[in-house]
Amino acid sequence: MKILLLGGGGREHALAWKIAQSPKCDQLYIAPGNAGTENCGKNVAIKADDFEALKDFTVENNIGMVVVGPEDPLVKGIYDSFKTDPKTRNIPVIGPSKAGAVLEGSKDFAKAFMKRHHIPTAAYETFDGTTLQEGLKFLETLQAPYVLKADGLAAGKGVLILPTLEEAQKEFREMLGGMFGNASAKVVIEEFLSGIECSVFVLTDGKNYKILPEAKDYKRIGEHDTGLNTGGMGSVSPVPFATTAWMEKVDRQIIRPTVEGLAAENIDYKGFIFFGLINVNGEPMVIEYNCRMGDPETESVMLRLKSDIVDLFEGVAEGNLDQREIVFDERAAVSVMLVSGGYPQEYKKGYPISGLDKVENSIVFHAGTTVKDGQTVTDGGRVIAVSSYGKTKEEALQKSFEEAQKIEFIGKYFRRDIGQDL
Ligand code: AMP
Ligand code: GLY
Repeated sequence: MKILLLGGGGREHALAWKIAQSPKCDQLYIAPGNAGTENCGKNVAIKADDFEALKDFTVENNIGMVVVGPEDPLVKGIYDSFKTDPKTRNIPVIGPSKAGAVLEGSKDFAKAFMKRHHIPTAAYETFDGTTLQEGLKFLETLQAPYVLKADGLAAGKGVLILPTLEEAQKEFREMLGGMFGNASAKVVIEEFLSGIECSVFVLTDGKNYKILPEAKDYKRIGEHDTGLNTGGMGSVSPVPFATTAWMEKVDRQIIRPTVEGLAAENIDYKGFIFFGLINVNGEPMVIEYNCRMGDPETESVMLRLKSDIVDLFEGVAEGNLDQREIVFDERAAVSVMLVSGGYPQEYKKGYPISGLDKVENSIVFHAGTTVKDGQTVTDGGRVIAVSSYGKTKEEALQKSFEEAQKIEFIGKYFRRDIGQDL
């Protein structure tokens, strides 16, 4: 089968690496891909949200399956666009419908969905321009710190956690005033939860589901979780507190009610669900849903998936995921992200990357790279993910840190404390 994968980050390189290993995949295309995905298949210069061009490409190239990496095309309705077009309606798209992607696209929808289905999450209320005064009063009833969330997609920046009531009320006004454009036309105010976070991933055909290896990601730019939030500076899998008993609780209280809730509400969902969880005194609670895999979690999780991912995708497309097998690699896997100097604030692109060919004990996934005049150069804030296996996470981290030294580009920075809090 020929497969088209959409996206161009580290998550997509890791997915491409895994898909390309499948005997069921004859040819992989990645749109738009990056300098690394070119080693797993063929890059195609089409943007992941140019649906008409993507549909023409799938028809002309006899593509048998489309796998969607990022949330943006899902929230914009790529699944529905393929499904309602006679020329592409029989090509399976791995990713939820537009109605399903709202789990990520609207925090207010996600919170209301969890409430309807009794899924544990922080208490909340949603406000808009017409209920600004009520929102300010609601904040007075809560205790610090205060959590404000833009309802819509805000490039991962839409959550503010404020230490004082005064700051919370000020930021709340500004959010409703357009701080994140239309994304903050509605604002969710929720109770602050204290605990360690863990990302849990599920692949579902809408009825059956398989739980993938869990992972923890490291969001802050600075060591010991200091400084600004980033897209993610590294990840580790497994997560020690995600024991069998804890994961059973997650399954019973969170995953099953979510999949059954989607089905009960007639929401067409065939793809990944990312559960952003927090462990509050041993009890898992949902911080957020995403309608796709995590980045940089995928750069660890794919290493721990032994099964053929294309076989699992076929199970999703055919609605018989219960008949497919999922097997995990018992080893630990980690990923350390090399980023551009200045990121997540202003940074420069286009610096040559050297030493990639010297890496021996890790798997290199490109996150933000491109080829210029035959040379691989930096092309984003997050540049390269160095992923490794180990008998323990310490052994895996050791490998990633050592190999990370061999890769050079101007301004390179990475966190040396990934995994050390666990
Ligand atoms: P989100 O974009 O929803 O993942 O939120 C970004 C980050 O904000 C999360 O990964 C958490 O670290 C933090 N966060 C979100 N909601 C809460 C909450 N209710 N309590 C504590 N931390 C939160
Ligand atoms: N690693 C968090 C995310 O992908 O949203």
